[in-house]
Amino acid sequence: MCNAYYCELKKKTLLFFFFVSPSIQASLRPKALVLPVKKDASTLQYVTQLKQRTPLVPLKLTLDLGGAYLWVDCDQGYVSSSYKPALCNSAQCSFARSKSCGDCDIGPKPGCNKNTCSVLPSNPVSRTGTIGEVTQDVISVQSTNGKNPGKPVSVPKFLFSCGSTFLAEGLASGVKGMAGLGRSKISMSSQFPAAFSFRRKFAICLSSLPNANGVIFFGDGPYTFLPGEFDVSKSLIYTPLILNPVSTSPAFFSNEASADYFIGVKGININGKTVKLNTTLLSINKKEGIGGTKISTVTPYTVMETSIYRAVVNAFVKEISTIPRVLAVAPFTACWNSKSFGSTRVGPGVPQIDLVLQNKNVFWRIFGANSMVQVKKDVLCLGFVDGGFNPHTSIVIGGHQIEDNLLQIDLAASRLGFSSSLLFQQTTCGNFNFTSNA
Ligand SMILES: *[C@@H]1O[C@H](CO)[C@@H](O)[C@H](O)[C@H]1NC(C)=O
Ligand SMILES: *[C@@H]1O[C@H](CO)[C@@H](O)[C@H](O)[C@H]1NC(C)=O
Repeated sequence: MCNAYYCELKKKTLLFFFFVSPSIQASLRPKALVLPVKKDASTLQYVTQLKQRTPLVPLKLTLDLGGAYLWVDCDQGYVSSSYKPALCNSAQCSFARSKSCGDCDIGPKPGCNKNTCSVLPSNPVSRTGTIGEVTQDVISVQSTNGKNPGKPVSVPKFLFSCGSTFLAEGLASGVKGMAGLGRSKISMSSQFPAAFSFRRKFAICLSSLPNANGVIFFGDGPYTFLPGEFDVSKSLIYTPLILNPVSTSPAFFSNEASADYFIGVKGININGKTVKLNTTLLSINKKEGIGGTKISTVTPYTVMETSIYRAVVNAFVKEISTIPRVLAVAPFTACWNSKSFGSTRVGPGVPQIDLVLQNKNVFWRIFGANSMVQVKKDVLCLGFVDGGFNPHTSIVIGGHQIEDNLLQIDLAASRLGFSSSLLFQQTTCGNFNFTSNA
């Protein structure tokens, strides 16, 4: 019997197919889905929007690339005739890797029901977590042929977790939860392919402009951008994804692997010259899950452990030592008058920063548009932040550095595909044609 929180569920054979509704006809089965994503100017969060519940209502969510699942504030304004909490010991509970089960007595209401299992939804922006009911409801998103959005399609029993009003504190205005795309069986990036039997691949392309929609694709390419019909999926560079065996979430059950996407950065070059780094920090300590490099959409600027940060800033400054610096603007420490730099197709003409990956020929090149931040009129700063001496993860590649770059996560092949700056191709992440052709 299991009636208290934190009781272990018996290990079971998981049912991988229960998301596939027999009502979805093969002919209507989409090959890919698309969601818009916009930068919120005041929080620098990336906010996406989809529809949920019966009747469907629009729902704004902060994008969390490393989030294990979707969570929503169920405390306020959750009205739906199709809300269905996961009963203790159900297949949904084991699928969600829930290790807790029990009764909530002030219900029944969304987020609070008897004999239901729970997980630990967290908000990595405010670094808070809570306990929340595992539940399911209808979700509706637009299908796509990779060029335009098409007909909306729905997943009738989309699994998610209830968060709470306090958990949503610190999120952008109007946002009711977080859209987790992380490495887990119930993240959005796993449930959509399971529901429509497409490849376990998705891509994000974040726009730097708050008035332009960036895009998230679920499924394989084409990922087409205007002008013309440029398919970014055809020109990606690949690097293996690395599993961190220890959770990096603010709240987690023991023995839980990280839902974050880590990549193997082996070194950093600036203008082609190797920056001397303590390479121990670049690999993941498998016992504690400390170290390594992950990609985050909830970190506005790349954060580096102090010794790495100092080495990178010093090497960068040295390359342009003839250009006088101006007073630094926090959180940055190296700033210049923006008129000191010429402008190029890929932003201010500054030294290139290469993240060297599986071998010296494979690197992620960061150009001025992604390395420099315009902090005020005429002042440009190197857009990296000092993460202190003992951060959990040594390098967290943040939002500014991935804007106008398309990143494809291929879960089946466990690899990341990246485009480097789309500005080179004379397009941007804001150039997906969101006019529906349905
Ligand atoms: C490199 O980093 C590791 C892990 O933090 C630390 O134990 C070691 O002392 C560092 N080595 C040097 C030379 O600073
Ligand atoms: C965007 O897509 C719509 C629908 O297919 C099409 O009519 C329109 O011409 C496209 N816009 C551009 C700029 O190509």
